[in-house]
Amino acid sequence: MKAALAARARARSNIALAKYWGKSDVALNLPAVPSLSLTLEGLTTETEVVFSRDLGRDELVLGGHLAGENETRRASELLDRVRAAAEIDLRARVTSRNDFPTASGLASSASGFAALAAAAAAAAGLDWSATRLSREARRSSASAARSIFGGFVELPAGDPGDDRLAARAIAAPEHWDVRMVVAVGSEGAKEIGSTEGMERSRRTSAFYDAWIDAAPALFRRVKSGVKSRDIVAVGEAMEQSTLAFHACAIAAAPAILYWAPVTLAALRTVRDLRERRGIPVYATMDAGPHVKALCEAEHEGPVRRALARTEGVLRTIVASPGRGVEWL
Ligand code: DP6
Repeated sequence: MKAALAARARARSNIALAKYWGKSDVALNLPAVPSLSLTLEGLTTETEVVFSRDLGRDELVLGGHLAGENETRRASELLDRVRAAAEIDLRARVTSRNDFPTASGLASSASGFAALAAAAAAAAGLDWSATRLSREARRSSASAARSIFGGFVELPAGDPGDDRLAARAIAAPEHWDVRMVVAVGSEGAKEIGSTEGMERSRRTSAFYDAWIDAAPALFRRVKSGVKSRDIVAVGEAMEQSTLAFHACAIAAAPAILYWAPVTLAALRTVRDLRERRGIPVYATMDAGPHVKALCEAEHEGPVRRALARTEGVLRTIVASPGRGVEWL
């Protein structure tokens, strides 16, 4: 084996403008709807993977703390696929650090599994393409497939049984100078992870089929708006996509309600900026209470200040279009 046994990689988080929610194949982790995201500069995960003969089992250290069984198992499953491809049988120590709150709907699994796939493959001596890395990251967490690439990235819906699905970049970070202003509403962990949330939605929500039917057209509107840099077209379709998936989740039993008072307050701020001040800014939310506001770079200042003043907002993070995964 020619491999150096250690490697480090950095990946950035991404926020979906057209949301993924629901799987067409749970075992292969294939999305039931196409999604389109923006990779974010500044919301990063750095991960080191060291394969070693001295380890009896895989170890995962997240933000300085030994991770629990579930998180370690999800990392081990990705490491198993890398070990099988590289034909090595060594356990790994994985050390990972985020520079933003973990597991609170700020897409830490996206940057986390993207960085892990890239670091593990390199540590095992595998010279995988970005497409191959994206496929492996997708099997662990579908949104992670998108974080392999920079800029504006699409992940098509998957056909059940077809394990080849990977994301692809549709426009580089330089294509469009937009900002995602994240209004952080809590630093804690979310109640229901997305994997469980979307499965419960599929099993129990009366609105699940309606969401699956509506999502592709919303995705197409977002994609064509991104290509023509049309903030109004992207923003309107983006808000519909997020509100439709949340409506689907809220209608599950028991309900999956990610919103907190701060969510509504920040949504109101975004609408006021649009209606009273004529600023084209639009909101999106994931599996947590935070509102993320999309606008063009010239409007960053007023959007950030208005969200920072909004009741319940702890702090804001401003991100511009970011690059894909890189090795350190
Ligand atoms: C609401 O990618 O975390 O952020 O594939 O089960 O790991 P798994 O789910 P995950 O879901 C992300 C859901 C979302 C929307 C999105 O990012 O598209």
